[in-house]
Amino acid sequence: MAEIQLRNVGKRWGSFVGVHNFDLTIADREFLVLLGPSGCGKTTTMRMIAGLEDVTEGEILVDGKVVNDLEPKDRDVAMVFQSYALYPNMNVYENIRFPLKVRGIDASTHDDKVRRASAMVELDDFLHRKPAELSGGQRQRVALARAIVREPNVFLMDEPLSNLDAKLRVSTRAQIKNLSHELAVTTIYVTHDQIEAMTLADRVVVMKQGVVQQVGSPTEIYDRPANTFVASFIGSPAMNLMDGKVLDGVFRAEHVEIPVDALDGPMTLGFRAEDASLAEGKGQITAPIYTLELLGDATMISVRVGGALVSVKADKAFRAEIGEPVSFSVPTEICHLFEAESGARIGG
Ligand SMILES: Nc1ncnc2c1ncn2[C@@H]1O[C@H](COP(=O)(O)OP(=O)(O)OP(=O)(O)O)[C@@H](O)[C@H]1O
Ligand SMILES: [Mg+2]
Repeated sequence: MAEIQLRNVGKRWGSFVGVHNFDLTIADREFLVLLGPSGCGKTTTMRMIAGLEDVTEGEILVDGKVVNDLEPKDRDVAMVFQSYALYPNMNVYENIRFPLKVRGIDASTHDDKVRRASAMVELDDFLHRKPAELSGGQRQRVALARAIVREPNVFLMDEPLSNLDAKLRVSTRAQIKNLSHELAVTTIYVTHDQIEAMTLADRVVVMKQGVVQQVGSPTEIYDRPANTFVASFIGSPAMNLMDGKVLDGVFRAEHVEIPVDALDGPMTLGFRAEDASLAEGKGQITAPIYTLELLGDATMISVRVGGALVSVKADKAFRAEIGEPVSFSVPTEICHLFEAESGARIGG
């Protein structure tokens, strides 16, 4: 069992703040995903939990015990790095086996454990190869197997799928989710890919410039983003966001008029591409088509309004010319409102 508590954890290098005031309890067996753009502090947070980076402020607790001063090897945490750090002179088998040797695990169990772990990531046929003789994706799976074989209390995975091709990524993603469930291990997983976050996580932590923006289940984050940053980071495409003004209960921007339940003043309005639809007559947004994208299962229509590109998902059979006018129905109840200046969500 492993519950991890981060109590106001911070990391500074000189005056540069890498992670600010990270405060969260990660439940035993939870699958937590840290999500955010490059440089937002994901790896740094992981490295502090692993003990590879000193904490500048705050405390990290595992099962109620402060571990700030524990060496990485004493934390029972297995980390899969962004760069996978394999031993070049050992073959795949020996690389996977290495943690068992170091930890003095009964040698008679090694072969079984190594073969089970390598089978999980489909490396059975590559056990005799050296890392230099593997593709990037294969190396990444060796790193995964090496973490699995340890049967740790905590998995820390830093973009473990970043070098896999699209298809292998999806299947390995499913394997990881299944694995974490089967092994019943608390998992903290770093990615900048929001789809990976949505599909894997029990809870997602969205970070920006070292600061946590929102913590919630994938549904909460998707349905009720705390601010425009989260709204624009989650979803494919991201939420449509338009700057405008509310006047007499109507949100107005160029080509846009949507009744809203808000006080007068500047505001950012958002809605998701799949929530709006083509209007029969005149809808709330009317503008010339900027581009059409055929996605196979749908057609994505984009228009330019109020300085932003707005996308609406239409039927896969929809066709029109660029420049033709279209009108969308954007009902009040599907809209999200954000403060113009801070970007914070308004209302429920
Ligand atoms: N040793 C260091 N000294 C100074 N600054 C550092 C150091 N290590 C990381 N940083 C800075 O801290 C910030 C967070 O880095 P971190 O590696 O945690 O980002 P990340 O979210 O993992 O990004 P990526 O998605 O690119 O891996 C970055 O701006 C980085 O430049
Ligand atoms: Mg990183």
